Amino acid sequence: MNIEGKVALITGAGHVMGIGYAIVRQLLGKRVKGVGILDINDENGREVLDILQNEFGEHRVIYVNCDVTSKTDLEGAFEKVKTHFGKLDIVCNNAGIQNEVNWELTLNINLMGTIRGTYLALEHMGVNYGGSGGIVINTASIAGIMTTSHLPVYGASKHGIVAFTRSIASNRTFKENKIRVSAFCPAKVDTPIQD
Ligand SMILES: NC(=O)c1ccc[n+]([C@@H]2O[C@H](COP(=O)([O-])OP(=O)(O)OC[C@H]3O[C@@H](n4cnc5c(N)ncnc54)[C@H](O)[C@@H]3O)[C@@H](O)[C@H]2O)c1
Ligand SMILES: *[C@@H]1O[C@H](CO)[C@@H](O)[C@H](O)[C@H]1NC(C)=O
Repeated sequence: MNIEGKVALITGAGHVMGIGYAIVRQLLGKRVKGVGILDINDENGREVLDILQNEFGEHRVIYVNCDVTSKTDLEGAFEKVKTHFGKLDIVCNNAGIQNEVNWELTLNINLMGTIRGTYLALEHMGVNYGGSGGIVINTASIAGIMTTSHLPVYGASKHGIVAFTRSIASNRTFKENKIRVSAFCPAKVDTPIQD
């Protein structure tokens, strides 16, 4: 797939050891025009911004502080990325945590953050909203397909992402707006999420 010249937005890509950061590196390597990284951890975010700007050019990456549990935050961040690069083509809903104690937060970030991001993608890329269409890629997990007795709510959040993505992928509104939606389900990857 040729993604040269496209503009991407990704949530939870603020750590050098994370999956999101690896996605950003791939996108930049395949010569997208620009990437907006959204994360809640500014210290880590500034670190990845520094590395990526040095390696790929300072005009191709921006970092935006954003808590995906806040619709206002997320909406503002979409606007910032779109204004900065002039358009938006690819949205990756990737932010996620594994917190079984504060399980409400796990659902709010993993599942509701992904739903918020997918609906905002429709409004910011849909052809009936003045956009030219685009793609949404949600980070689910093997925990969205199989049982995870040690992480029950995390598993529920990821099953939710899979169910939501499969339904939205065949939703007429999204089709009419030329938005393709998909999810991928990684198995265990050595990242800071377990910390
Ligand atoms: N590591 C694995 O084994 C694995 C396997 C399958 C799926 N995943 C999924 O991959 C995604 C990325 O996780 P990772 O493993 O790279 O870990 P990670 O901790 O490096 O990435 C998660 C990122 O999300 C950010 N974040 C947390 N809360 C946020 C919020 N409220 N708003 C915005 N950003 C927030 C964190 O600061 C962090 O940078 C997650 O959705 C995770 O569930 C991970
Ligand atoms: C598509 O999803 C939207 C929510 O985004 C819903 O309101 C609508 O009814 C769905 N449309 C169809 C045709 O299924």
